[in-house]
Parts: sequence; structure tokens; C-alpha cells
Amino acid sequence: MSLKVALAGATGNLGPAILEALDAANFEVTVLTRSSNNSFDSKIKVAEIDYQSVESIQKALANQDALVIALGAVGLEPHANLIKAAVAANVKRIIPSEFGSDTTNPNAAASPVFGDKVAIQKQLNETVASSSTTSYTGIVNGPFLDWGLKVKLLVDLSSPEPVLYDGGDRKISVTTLSGIGKAVVGVLKNLDATKNKTVFVREADLSQKDLLQLAGKQVSNGKNVSTADLEKEAFAELQKPEPNVPVFVYGFLKRAIFGEGFGSLFPTENLSNELLGVGKLSDEELKALVSKYA
Ligand SMILES: NC(=O)c1ccc[n+]([C@@H]2O[C@H](COP(=O)([O-])OP(=O)(O)OC[C@H]3O[C@@H](n4cnc5c(N)ncnc54)[C@H](OP(=O)(O)O)[C@@H]3O)[C@@H](O)[C@H]2O)c1
Repeated sequence: MSLKVALAGATGNLGPAILEALDAANFEVTVLTRSSNNSFDSKIKVAEIDYQSVESIQKALANQDALVIALGAVGLEPHANLIKAAVAANVKRIIPSEFGSDTTNPNAAASPVFGDKVAIQKQLNETVASSSTTSYTGIVNGPFLDWGLKVKLLVDLSSPEPVLYDGGDRKISVTTLSGIGKAVVGVLKNLDATKNKTVFVREADLSQKDLLQLAGKQVSNGKNVSTADLEKEAFAELQKPEPNVPVFVYGFLKRAIFGEGFGSLFPTENLSNELLGVGKLSDEELKALVSKYA
């Protein structure tokens, strides 16, 4: 019998790739959404929910085997309510909205930008870990490689003077959106081996200079920016009466992604790529991908 999987946040940056992978794996998918006015494939069930109401979410989660949460920074309450509802509905596995930096790393965990993720880990450890029915798996995949190039978070391949953080030589672990979709499916196919833990996957370990070189760009034109300075500016911004959200969010994010001591390069022994069926991208695949954004 195929697993019944509910997915919250199927229309965001990451959600569509997870939906595609769940569907390709022949899971029975129900999308949880604020508005059922969406154009999903007819075989995808859609449940309209109110994120403010645990009861409404619990109703939609009746008989579901798993809940995948792909909500972005929408405040703590929707995430917390999804977890409360999943536990109440006896959903077997919750995959929370991690999907990024290693928030089990103490420096990353202390970053204000990951406060909600850390609060959700606490909630999961307190409630889910002691439940006899519900368990969780956090997926840490590093920055999204394709999305990160598209929005120029990883490096601006079209700039004559791309910004290089802390010199641009530090390698970081990265995964494409479709790679994360595969990792989610891998967790759901390996429920015992991934129970109540954080798993790490990556498709490549690359520095900003590696990305420029893959795109055939000069690395010597890069402009150096210190992530320690970005972090200082982000804290200063937070002190203001009306802080500029992108300034502090991206300052903290860039520090956690490119700075030293944030666990951005995953040790090989921590990786679950093989278990989850996520491969490593070849140089040819990387060049083809990078060329789309150059
Ligand atoms: N590693 C990286 O580089 C990286 C980059 C981006 C995000 N992430 C992570 O990936 C996960 C998903 O992030 P995302 O960027 O894909 O999320 P997103 O695009 O911001 O939002 C996903 C979905 O959340 C739902 N939603 C529920 N309440 C909402 C509200 N009040 N306002 C707006 N949308 C709301 C929407 O679906 P409905 O309209 O159907 O309700 C929306 O499509 C998060 O854990 C995030 O931290 C990681």
C-alpha cells in the first residue's frame, strides 16, 4: 500500500520540487494549502486549512502517514500548529521545514535567522520524540544550488565584479531543489533508519570561486566582503526601531552559509546520500546547471 503523504507549502520555492518527487514515487499526496484555488494535477488531493487552527489541520491530517512541511518564514505559529495537529492525528512521520543550514551546529543555532527552526526542533524533541506513534526527520541540505544561483545568493554569475564572501574559497555543501525532493522520498522509504534524527545530504561541495570557474568566469575580478562585518551590520539593523528585514536576514544567512564555524561543509561521515538515493553531481552536470545562470 502506498504511503499517504500530506505536503504543506506546495506552491513555494521548494514545495513544487517535493510535490513532483512524491508524485513520481507514487505516494498518495494531499496538498495542505490556505487556498484550494490552485492548479494541481487532478490526482493530487487538496485540503484547504487554516494555519491558525490546530483542529482544522488535524482534520486534514486524519489517516495521513507523513507530513512534509515546506513553509518558509511565515512565523512560528503555522509550523508549531502543523506539528501539534500531526501528533494529535497520529501521523507517523513529520519532516519539518529545515532544508537549509546545519541548525544543529551551535553557531548556526545561535543565529537570529534560525530562531524559529531551533524552536521547532525543541518542540519536536519535547513532544514527538516521546510519542509512541509520531516521529520526525530533519533534512539538512545546505543552500539550494539552482535557486541560490537564480536569486544570486550563492554568487552573481552575471556581475563583472561578483561579491566573494570571506575570499570566496570556502567550500560549502549544496543541493538542487530536485535533489531535496529525492531526499524527502528517501526518508519516507527509510522510516526506521531516519527516525527522530537530522539527516544530511548534498549533491556538491563548492566554493564561490568554484562556481565562477564552472561558469568560465574570472575569479580575480571578485570583490571581497567579510561575513563577520555582515553579521555586525545585521545585529545593528536588528537594534533599529524599524529594522530592514532583508538587510538583517541576508546578513545573518550569508554569515551562516559562507562564514567559518557554521558547519556549511558537511563531513562525509555525516552524509545520508546513499541511504536516501541522492547522488553527487558530476562536473559535466554542474557545468550544465551553472551555465543556465551565467
Ligand atoms: N537552503 C536554502 O537555500 C533555502 C532557500 C529558501 C528556503 N529554504 C527553506 O525551505 C523551506 C521552504 O521555504 P520556501 O522558500 O520554499 O517557502 P515559501 O516559498 O516562502 O512558502 C511556501 C508556502 O508557504 C505557504 N504559506 C503558508 N502560510 C503562508 C503565509 N502566511 N504567507 C505566505 N505563504 C504561506 C504557501 O502555500 P499556500 O499558498 O499553498 O498556502 C507558500 O507557497 C523553509 O524551511 C526554508 O527555510 C531554504
